[in-house]
Amino acid sequence: MKTLVPDRHTLDPIEVASVDEIRALQLKRMKWSLQHAYDNVPVYRKRFDAQGVHPSDLRTLEDIARFPFTCKDDLRENYPFGLFALPREKIIRIHASSGTTGKPTVVGYTKNDIELWADLVARSMRASGTRPGDMVHVAYGYGLFTGGLGAHYGAERLGCTVVPVSGGMTERQLTLIQDFKPRSIMVTPSYMLNILDQFKKAGIDPRSTSLEVGIFGAEPWTDAMRAEVEDAFAMHAVDIYGLSEILGPGVASECIESKDGLHVWEDHFYPEIIDPRTGEVLADGETGELVLTTMTKEGLPMVRYRTRDLTRLLPGTARSMRRIEKILGRNDDMIILRGVNVFPTQIEEQVLSMPELAPHFQIELSRNGRMDNMTVGVEAASGSTAENDRQAFAIKLTKKIKEVVGVSTTVKVGVPGSVERSQGKARRVLDHRSL
Ligand code: DLL
Repeated sequence: MKTLVPDRHTLDPIEVASVDEIRALQLKRMKWSLQHAYDNVPVYRKRFDAQGVHPSDLRTLEDIARFPFTCKDDLRENYPFGLFALPREKIIRIHASSGTTGKPTVVGYTKNDIELWADLVARSMRASGTRPGDMVHVAYGYGLFTGGLGAHYGAERLGCTVVPVSGGMTERQLTLIQDFKPRSIMVTPSYMLNILDQFKKAGIDPRSTSLEVGIFGAEPWTDAMRAEVEDAFAMHAVDIYGLSEILGPGVASECIESKDGLHVWEDHFYPEIIDPRTGEVLADGETGELVLTTMTKEGLPMVRYRTRDLTRLLPGTARSMRRIEKILGRNDDMIILRGVNVFPTQIEEQVLSMPELAPHFQIELSRNGRMDNMTVGVEAASGSTAENDRQAFAIKLTKKIKEVVGVSTTVKVGVPGSVERSQGKARRVLDHRSL
């Protein structure tokens, strides 16, 4: 694989500024943002007043801990536009996340917010090794989901040729990759595996494509998955993080030269890690829930938004801004199985450690009396698909999960193609316990 480190002089100066400079900018911007939220969003004003804090109480960045949290339910309770800080006419774009139950979470952007978003996705793409003039295949879904349009505007901003394919119709994805010869692809990692299958089915060597960079996000994925995809396509796999409530993709991004976690674009978002049970702020380096405060967003300012994503904050490396470690999972994806906490990413690591298995998996939870059971559905890699082999693989994976993750599971190894394929964000867990 070629190394594609961007020239230092092409970076935004703040990406490599001193930590002091970044902190000074943050304090100035945070003051503006809190005042903006207080003045223009009645929900924030009421909350701040109830907690006895005023934007002028923010004297240092640490003072942010005195302000109340915001969470997904606040968006739902104020559906659709109740948290917008500007009249609806100033909002030029709406997005929404589907949500598993009930009403979607609606977010809105002013013209400046859309500009900022394009800038930050362009910055993230440059960090991934994508360059102006490259062709970029966007296979994130277009529509209310922020993935497609977020990637699209960023790619245009960087000066790339964008192919807005969106998700689905996997055969066509293949044709376009082969015929147009994009250098970068933006897609969920699980859908990239689906594309990989399609290449194999068509008898085309995936290592022979023009792709050199994959910018993968929108769902948790492990370093084991990175190795799998990098090897299969002979390309770099770089992580991008974001959420609609804060912006969409482009809140944080990995750099191709280090691939050591995602730099949070701290000139626009202030990260904290809290203990999800007590709300207490944890020190950098400790694992907990990521909380983000927007410092420049106009349409939908977010004060201490609880992302429910679990990670930890680490110092800057390739850029001055702090990194988050690859997301372990969401609070609500955590499976508590007979007292042991399990994340789907831990299962992913074990599945991918066995070359005998394909990299697809799905977890099913069921209840038998008072006992919770977890079944891990995987499939044999093409080659050894005989019943006996598959049984042996199941025994091996069961043992690995027991030893490393610490839980007893039932493993079912099917024939190739038996596990549900992702079209976007993978459905990793099917929970039948409440049925
Ligand atoms: O998934 C935005 C996005 C699109 C990010 C494309 C990256 C690429 P939502 O639909 O609002 O927005 O979902 C946000 O997805 O809170 C995480 O739980 C998860 N997530 C997003 N990126 C990553 C990542 C988009 N790189 C939720 N690693 C977030 C792990 C991620 N989880």
